[in-house]
Amino acid sequence: MAETLTITDNRTGKQYEVPIHDGTIKATDLRQIKVTPDEFGMMTYDPAFMNTAACKSRITYIDGDKGVLLYRGYPIEQLAEQSDFLETAYLILFGELPSAKHYDEWKRNVMLHTMLHTNLSKLMEGFRHDAHPMGMFISTVGALSTFYPDAKDIFSAESRRLQTLRLIAKVPSIAAYCFRHSIGRPFNLPDNDLSYVGNFLNLLFRMTEPRFTVNPVLERALDVLFILHADHEQNCSTSTMRAIGSSHADPYSALAGAAAALYGPLHGGANEAVLRMLNEIGSKNNVPAFIKRVKAGEGRLMGFGHRVYKSYDPRAKIIKRMADLVFDVTGKNPLLDMALELERIALEDEYFVSRKLYPNVDFYSGLIYQAMGFPVDMFPVLFAIPRTAGWIAQWDEMLNDADQKIVRPRQIYIGSGPRDYVPKEKRR
Ligand code: CMC
Repeated sequence: MAETLTITDNRTGKQYEVPIHDGTIKATDLRQIKVTPDEFGMMTYDPAFMNTAACKSRITYIDGDKGVLLYRGYPIEQLAEQSDFLETAYLILFGELPSAKHYDEWKRNVMLHTMLHTNLSKLMEGFRHDAHPMGMFISTVGALSTFYPDAKDIFSAESRRLQTLRLIAKVPSIAAYCFRHSIGRPFNLPDNDLSYVGNFLNLLFRMTEPRFTVNPVLERALDVLFILHADHEQNCSTSTMRAIGSSHADPYSALAGAAAALYGPLHGGANEAVLRMLNEIGSKNNVPAFIKRVKAGEGRLMGFGHRVYKSYDPRAKIIKRMADLVFDVTGKNPLLDMALELERIALEDEYFVSRKLYPNVDFYSGLIYQAMGFPVDMFPVLFAIPRTAGWIAQWDEMLNDADQKIVRPRQIYIGSGPRDYVPKEKRR
């Protein structure tokens, strides 16, 4: 028997049977509930989409209570252990792990597009020397739409495939240019014989040597961090990508919007905020006083808490383990002890325990990035590179979903009723 929800409207005494699919009712099925026929009908009020599924998706699964994260069914722990970012990106984008032949083709095709148009690099030179790299990243990704007007052809699968290759290939180049610009060094050219991450390190850090030597431990660590950040279902930036894409804007414009949503300190800017917080706390001795201030509502413990995870974020567990391998190469980040102390105290404290606040992906990632030589304001950019794979996959899924239309939430109007315009001289 089909599952239904029976609703009784006490205003009219009428009963309604609303079908249940996947533990969900359709919000538009509530519209039949009305007192008079000319009414709009019942709506749901759900600021911040706390309890609203906006799409059906086959890409990423999260069980927030159990701390489970799957990309296309594969556990994040197995991917972090055995896969690499380009393979994981392929999985997220196309639904299956590639065969060896398809992997090689994919890698070759991505690496073919790593170069940036000279005019794009000239545009980047126009930023102030102290421009925030994320601001540069957002603007430059948006500017890509002017270089590839063919991207407007969003209903052509071939065009979408080409823009996908361009975006996956060019975001590390743009990110590296942001970094080089901020330190006043010339832009490096890609070395496509290196791995995707190896080439990114080359774009970032090569100086005068003819060939950049990649440290394999740091290369692998960054690759794993990229895998962990590749997708996370309907978060703020992904929802933005889908929302902008739903108006049929080109993918570069939509991705610039998604990156802008990521920039905020409650989302991808949290890794940057964690480092600033640790610097502000200053020493392990100040941790209890800081925790006290957080509990009194004077600021948040950045890198803690999550809308979906109500247990330890599985990505944070992997990053914490990996930190030791990186610190063996780079030397320990002096902020690590303070972070461990914060975690220890918070995980024992009633305030954090009762609210199920655990370290999230951003709590430890910044410590690794900093040890690898990245300035703090590059952290959100490092988040945006791998998340590009997730954003494009979600955008593509949205465009191919017959249920989707232009995003257009409703509101409950609580403003003034109709009133007559008052000329300036008669206003009080
Ligand atoms: N420090 C202190 N208290 C917190 C924190 C925190 N980091 N996070 C949530 N709370 C408290 C909050 O004050 C509220 O308490 P009360 O019920 O007494 O008012 C309760 O916990 C529930 O918080 P909420 O704000 O209703 O939860 P939310 O689901 O709206 O917010 C969050 C989720 C991630 C925005 C929030 O936990 C937060 O601001 N964390 C710090 C920023 C951060 O680390 N963001 C990165 C998220 S993971 C990476 C990503 O996906 O971008």
